[in-house]
Amino acid sequence: MISLLGGFALLIAGAVLLSSCEGPAGPPGLDGEDGEDGRDANETCIICHNAEVVLLAKQQQTLSSHHLTGGNYGRNHTDCAVCHTHQGFIEVQATGLLETANTIDDPAPINCRTCHLIHHNYDESDWGLVTTSAVDLRHGDATVDLGGSDNLCVNCHQSLALNPLPVPGGADVSIVSSRYGPHHGPQANTLWGVGGYEIEGSKSYPAPGTHAHANAGCVMCHMAEVPYGGVTAGGHTFNMTYEYHGSTEENINGCVGCHQSLEEFDYNDLQTEVEGLMAQIQAIMVTNGWLTESGSVIASSGTPLVLSPDEAGAIVNFKTMEEDRSHGIHNPVYTVALLTNTLESLGK
Ligand code: HEC
Ligand code: HEC
Ligand code: HEC
Ligand code: HEC
Ligand code: HEC
Ligand code: HEC
Repeated sequence: MISLLGGFALLIAGAVLLSSCEGPAGPPGLDGEDGEDGRDANETCIICHNAEVVLLAKQQQTLSSHHLTGGNYGRNHTDCAVCHTHQGFIEVQATGLLETANTIDDPAPINCRTCHLIHHNYDESDWGLVTTSAVDLRHGDATVDLGGSDNLCVNCHQSLALNPLPVPGGADVSIVSSRYGPHHGPQANTLWGVGGYEIEGSKSYPAPGTHAHANAGCVMCHMAEVPYGGVTAGGHTFNMTYEYHGSTEENINGCVGCHQSLEEFDYNDLQTEVEGLMAQIQAIMVTNGWLTESGSVIASSGTPLVLSPDEAGAIVNFKTMEEDRSHGIHNPVYTVALLTNTLESLGK
């Protein structure tokens, strides 16, 4: 009985101590022996640098991630460095601008410190993400909020502003680049369901942000559990597919929590349908002399491609879904609507 009461008193004392932690900061404790740089000697490096292999496992995974291996971190000009270099991304998180002030010297690829606050406080809070705020898209009138960690990805995986921007009912546009389109990573736009050129047609467009996959966010699918035998997918590889015994396998670990019967990405033949629509659209655009067989726009500053807004919008839609590279998975309903209506507008 006495020991029980004693235990209770300890509990209460503990609770008082704990709750006092939330009050105003108390006086500083005794200092440890400081190093020459003035840092406390009793810092907590061992929270992360210890006998565990958490760091090693994550490092190995990032070595299979295009963030580290894609090789495009040499894109260090002010307008590219914001997404392609570590330093550029960190700089614009502070300035809120869309470009860096200068070209980035000694560019570094996207790494632990680009996403996490590593070596800021030297405690667990360093695992916090550099940003989790909602993002105002560069193209498409929307603020995307995937609700936390996923917003980090949205900063970089979004369409660039279109130049020229076709406006429904507006003037003809003059395209002067073979790379006309949203750039390579429009995934946040497609996931949210914005930024396509919404041509009227037999399918209606869902309201932005309403598909269940936007709720899933990037992390649930791309950072799902690493699959058996496939250490180059899932987790910090961010990859959806991996090579195993000579064939390309899909990591469905992130899907089966919601789709119990799903065995492949081409669930209910969605990807087959999307690829069919894409092939028909591309064939027409090749015949029209707008695209090459490999999907480049046939345009240059010397020989501009002048099109009506709807025609240019059709190219935008095709390029957006091509660059999205999920073959409809990011937003099944929006993708099918956009491509079906695009095909109809091209006279099919
Ligand atoms: C919150 C976890 C965490 C804490 C706490 C932490 N580190 Fe690190 N440390 C990391 C990570 C993550 C890396 C980068 C690994 C990579 O880039 O692959 C790293 C890298 C390093 C490196 C390798 C060189 C470099 O800069 O990349 C050294 C040395 C290092 N830390 C020392 C320390 C010391 C000393 C402390 C304590 C004063 C400390 N770390 C506290 C997570 C931590
Ligand atoms: C700082 C900008 C930035 C952030 C933040 C970012 N990415 Fe990336 N991501 C890139 C760039 C740039 C590439 C291409 C790298 C290259 O080619 O050198 C890329 C590549 C990828 C790839 C590989 C694409 C391929 O070609 O196979 C995937 C998948 C990916 N990112 C998913 C994510 C996810 C999920 C998140 C959020 C957890 C995220 N990214 C956060 C910029 C970013
Ligand atoms: C808003 C962020 C952002 C900006 C700004 C940006 N990129 Fe990218 N870029 C990405 C992302 C994300 C990827 C990877 C997409 C993927 O793999 O699906 C990428 C991929 C690339 C690739 C690889 C394409 C491939 O097929 O492997 C090249 C090259 C590239 N970007 C060049 C540039 C250049 C040049 C600039 C500046 C004029 C630039 N990017 C500006 C986000 C951006
Ligand atoms: C492109 C961004 C990105 C990069 C690069 C990155 N991380 Fe992460 N990391 C994340 C996100 C997002 C989460 C949160 C995942 C979630 O919400 O479940 C995370 C979670 C973690 C966690 C939490 C534990 C866990 O398993 O969920 C650890 C530890 C971690 N990362 C370590 C690292 C280390 C070490 C590196 C470098 C080798 C690294 N990360 C690189 C985005 C990144
Ligand atoms: C519902 C699950 C899901 C969500 C949510 C999701 N993705 Fe994907 N994503 C996929 C699948 C599946 C593929 C690959 C399809 C294939 O290979 O056939 C893919 C492809 C990609 C690719 C092309 C490279 C690759 O790995 O194949 C990038 C880059 C990408 N997604 C980034 C993102 C980003 C960034 C987000 C969040 C804004 C996101 N995805 C949200 C499932 C998802
Ligand atoms: C958070 C839960 C969730 C996750 C995770 C998720 N899905 Fe879905 N998915 C849904 C819901 C709900 C729908 C139905 C929404 C709608 O289209 O009306 C759906 C629709 C789909 C469709 C369209 C099906 C059809 O009949 O038209 C496909 C394909 C699909 N998901 C594939 C995937 C794949 C592949 C993954 C993993 C990479 C995945 N989903 C992850 C919830 C999820």
